[in-house]
Parts: sequence; structure tokens; C-alpha cells
Amino acid sequence: MHLFRTKPVEQSIADAEGGEHRLKRSLSALDLTVFGVGVVVGTGIFVLTGVAARNTAGPAVAISFVIAGVVCALAALCYAEFAATVPVAGSAYTYAYATIGEFPAWIIGWDLMLELALGAAVVASGWSGYFASLLKNFGIHLPPSIAGDEAVFNIPAALVVLLLTGVLVAGIKMSARFNSAMVAVKLAVVLLVIVAGLFFVKGANYRPFVPPSQAMPATEGMKAPLIQMLFGVQPVAYGVFGVFTAAALVFFAFIGFDVVATAAEETRRPQRDLPIGIIASLVVCTILYVAVSLVVVGMQHYSRLSETAPLADAFREVGQTWVATLISIGAIAGLTTVVMILMLGQSRVLFAMCRDNLLPRSLAKVHPVFRTPYRITIVIGVATALLAALIPLSAIAELVNIGTLFAFVIVALAVMILRRTRPDLPRSFRTPLVPLVPILSVLASIYLMLNLPVETWIRFLVWMAVGSAVYFLYGHRRSRVAATTPGEAVLGR
Ligand code: ALA
Repeated sequence: MHLFRTKPVEQSIADAEGGEHRLKRSLSALDLTVFGVGVVVGTGIFVLTGVAARNTAGPAVAISFVIAGVVCALAALCYAEFAATVPVAGSAYTYAYATIGEFPAWIIGWDLMLELALGAAVVASGWSGYFASLLKNFGIHLPPSIAGDEAVFNIPAALVVLLLTGVLVAGIKMSARFNSAMVAVKLAVVLLVIVAGLFFVKGANYRPFVPPSQAMPATEGMKAPLIQMLFGVQPVAYGVFGVFTAAALVFFAFIGFDVVATAAEETRRPQRDLPIGIIASLVVCTILYVAVSLVVVGMQHYSRLSETAPLADAFREVGQTWVATLISIGAIAGLTTVVMILMLGQSRVLFAMCRDNLLPRSLAKVHPVFRTPYRITIVIGVATALLAALIPLSAIAELVNIGTLFAFVIVALAVMILRRTRPDLPRSFRTPLVPLVPILSVLASIYLMLNLPVETWIRFLVWMAVGSAVYFLYGHRRSRVAATTPGEAVLGR
């Protein structure tokens, strides 16, 4: 069946250089870092901080951010080696194709849709909530049927997705410029929160820093974390375990640093700049998150933090409404770039899959003037807009986490495999302490996956089953690697 035929690294790199399927190389290490910060800082810090501190970790939520940051750093070190060795658009999909084989690669590509397209739709619907609340400040009230969590057809969410699709089609440099402007606004607001917030911090709010643990009413059935069902672990709030549970929740805040790797074919010096871009954006975001969360839990007792807009509401509470308004503007700018870059990542992964004939190759055509994969970008834009408009997404946001963590597991495994199968490849960045770091990365990612609800696991498995069916009905027979590799039956492992 040749499910495990691999695509040699050299062939992936050669494909990236080819004719009408070639992208424009214009990004620098700084552009990539700004991209990274643009896609990472969003819903997580603007919204989840409140829920995580209030219900699960208390003031120690700052430590939860550090733990989630460490899990991501392990994965980032693995991504960095691959991105430097195989600087091709598909990220984890391409890495899996080079190491484990075609079917696992397809599965990863399919899985990444959960992180990227679904992630973009989730954040777009959060965006519409902030947008509606900002309009309210100016006396404009959007009917709940067209905006926010209860919407029947979420019009602002769909419109912002389509608008951003236009920016993505217009060119990578144009997207980078738009991104930089938005990231500047978002960073200014985050820094404002840190600096202005310091004046309102009260030492008493930090005590106790790790509140004593409390048994939570057991969540039964589908909503319970898988780990609870498998091992009978009782869920607790607060205490040391609470700090770890909250790490699984705030993991969402870090999603996206891996998207930097999907811009490999648009980077001028990928071997040097991709590892810098991936690691620098993660470091910057971790520092910001820890600082913001320390300030916010210092401003307001954790038990009183708001679950929907903790940053803005902490300032409202101390009478600084103007800061609250600025935070809403920063959140809108911030979420805009998250949506845009997740869609950018999605288009590059599907582009790589179409170029390999696992999806229709004609979709991978690059625009003659803009040099962007415009066809696949438009398909993704329309699909994401519909998803954002129609589905009540807060309920399925955890699918985004599981999809991302699964990709982390595969990439860490693939680093170890490629070290064995192709020790000869030039690696301008090497993951330190192999196999220790990749093994820790696999274990840490699996631990966070186990903390996700049973229903999320079921949805994840159903999505993967659909993906497998699509592969056997379409890609398996059309694969370009199968057609172009002489003796691929021998190569297939
Ligand atoms: N990390 C991104 C966010 O927090 C997905 O919105």
C-alpha cells in the first residue's frame, strides 16, 4: 500500500524552487519574529488569564504560563531544527513526509486544519465580541443574532475573515506590513497594561500565591478530562495540581509560534532566520504573558477577576475607564493579526499538500503578480468565514489545542527519526540534547492532551477518520511522490 513512502528532503527543497509553484522570498528574521508575536498574542492573554486565575490557579496563573511556555519551548527547539533543515512551506506536514511517510504526513496536514483554519475561525468569533462591545461604547448596538457568541450568522466575524483574505492574496510583504502596524498597537496596549497596572498592584492580592487545593465537583461523562476517565484522577482547583491544569488551558495563548515555520519559503535566509523567528517570538510572548498575568492578579483579587475581559475590567474596577477602552482597541488589533496569520499558515500547509498532488494541484497555482498561492488562500478564506459565521465556536475551541499538540508530538518524533535516517543533512540549527529534549517534548504534549475533555478526543478522532477516508479516496492514488520516485516501493518503509 506504500502508506509510508517518504519524500526525500532534497525533493521537497527542489519543489519549493519550481516555476509557477514558487513563492517570493522577502521576509527577514525580524519580520518572522513580528509575525510570531502577531499570531501568538491574542485571545489567550486578553481572555483566558481571567478564567484560569479565577477558577483553577489563583495568582499562580503566572506559573501556569511559565509551564505552558516550557512545553512550547521544547517543541520550538524541535521545530527550529526542522525549519532550518527542510525550509519548505508545509511545516509539520513536510517534516512528517520526509521522515515517517506519506500517510502520517497527510494525517498531520489534515490535523493542522484544526490548529489553523479552525483556530482562525474561533479567534474571529472572539474578535466580533470585542468589536460589538467597542461599538457599544459609541452608542451603536449590533443585534445579538448577528454578532457575539449567540449569533445565528456572525456577520462581523465573516467580514473580517474575508477582508483579511484579501490582504493575504495581495502579497506576503503587504501582509507583513499590515501585521507590523497591528502588532505595534497590540504591544503598546500590553505594555500599557504592565506599566499602568503596576501603580494599582496591592500586595495583599498575591496572598496566598498558590491557594490551597479544593476538590472540584467531579465533571462527569464527556466533559471530563480524558486523564480522569482513564486513571480515575480527581479534578482539583488551585494547589499545585491546579497550576498544572491551568497550564493546559492557557496553552491556547501560545498557539501560533509554530506558524512561523510555514513561512519558510518566503524567508530570505531560512536556515538562519527561521530558528531565530520561532524561538524569539516564543521568548517575547512568554515574558509578556508572565508580566501581564502578575500585574492583573495583583490589581484585583483572583476570585473577582472577570472571565470575559479580565484586563479591561481590572482597570475599570480601579476607575481607569480610558485604559479599559484602549485595551479593547488593542484586543481588536491583536485578534485581527492572529486570524490573519493563522490563515496564512493554513494556506501554506495546504499549498504544500496540493503541490504534492495529495489535494488538487491546480489549487497550488501562485498568482503571477502577487506571488501568493491565491487560489488556495481564497478557498480557505471562504471556508473559514462560513465556519466563523455559522458555528458556535467557543464549544469546540479545545479541538484547536488537541490538533496543535498532536503536531508537536509528531514533529518531536520526526526530529529523532531524521537524525537516524539522514545524519548527513546539513543542519544549521540542532535541537540540543537529542533524544532528551524531543522525548520530553512528546511526554509534555501528551500530558496536556490527556487533560482535554473526552468529547474533544472523540471529535478529534472523528476528524482524523474523515481525513483518512479522503486520503484513500483521493491522495493515495494521485500522489506525486508515488509517480515520480522510481522504485518507491523500496523507499517505502
Ligand atoms: N495564541 C493565540 C491566541 O491567544 C491563538 O489567540
